[in-house]
Amino acid sequence: MTSLLQGVHHITLCPGGAQQDIDFFTEVLGQRLIKQTVLMDGSIPIYHFYYGNADADVGSIATCFPYSRKAGRAGSGQLSCTSYTVPNGAATFWRDHFDRHHAEHSGVQERFGTKYLRARHPAGLLVEVIEESGDGRNAWTTKEITKDVGTRGFFGAVLSVRDAREQESFFVDALGFRKVGVDGPYHRFEVPGTGPGRVVDLHVEPERTPGSWGFGAGTAHHIAFNVETDEALMAQKAVYEELGFTDASEIKDRFYFHSMYVRSPGGILVECTANVPGGFYQDEAPEALGTTLLLPPWYEEQRQAIVAQLEPITVPEENRLGPGAASAPRPVAAPAQEPKIPVSRYKATFDKDKQIT
Ligand SMILES: [Fe+2]
Repeated sequence: MTSLLQGVHHITLCPGGAQQDIDFFTEVLGQRLIKQTVLMDGSIPIYHFYYGNADADVGSIATCFPYSRKAGRAGSGQLSCTSYTVPNGAATFWRDHFDRHHAEHSGVQERFGTKYLRARHPAGLLVEVIEESGDGRNAWTTKEITKDVGTRGFFGAVLSVRDAREQESFFVDALGFRKVGVDGPYHRFEVPGTGPGRVVDLHVEPERTPGSWGFGAGTAHHIAFNVETDEALMAQKAVYEELGFTDASEIKDRFYFHSMYVRSPGGILVECTANVPGGFYQDEAPEALGTTLLLPPWYEEQRQAIVAQLEPITVPEENRLGPGAASAPRPVAAPAQEPKIPVSRYKATFDKDKQIT
């Protein structure tokens, strides 16, 4: 089949503490905090941080729900590692850099003939940097991470499954991936087309205990793939239903994009997204991305109750786009338009005095 997908859109993780997460993603991984907002499901205020490259490109965005209220259980049936590309020859920089920050790491490894290094977030999540030439996306730079070694955006992700067969059919038949190879326990799939951020490696771990599925610190929650339009999102939902995946969700309004979710056979939650006009630039000036807490308009009247329950955080000063930034700011996008398809919005009531257990 032809694929409606264009590649990875974002990957969503549950770290623990909010400040701990910001410090790891910005200082250790060298990501730009491009958006501070909140989880749009449920009635407990939880931050939602978005981290990306210098241009906040789709396909570079790790999103995090700091979920210190409950621990998750890492295991199979989960996204097990988030993969970024770095320039050829950068692996040794990252080994030394992780050492400097006392981040546990794997040392330089190789799979499918490519060097990579895997490191552990303080909450237990795994991230990796993979050497790849020809990725022209703009790395965000920091005092320690220069453009010649910085992460460009996603290479893709590693998903842990106990058995590859049903997950493979899902990726090929429902999402239009093609299988491109096997290296030991890793089965590699790509979205057809060109450009970075199209790879998923199924890591077959038959003996690994299944991990938790809900929100929980130390676990990934889902992976999202980009489609071009709302109509393509509806078409993808129809593909799922035709194949018997009738648990595909309604189309949800996530303000920066529209989303539709389905639980894949290996256990991993898979989202497809369609961008809305303006995307991450619709409510913030390009140079100010990520510097203040933004709420979707339908939550704004409850700002006080929401903020009262959030951990105070400090955004790194170097998050502001300065004269030395890697990329010129993009123009502010056109005003958002009303969606052309029915989208759902969850509208919770937040109680600032509610005891969270
Ligand atoms: Fe998502």
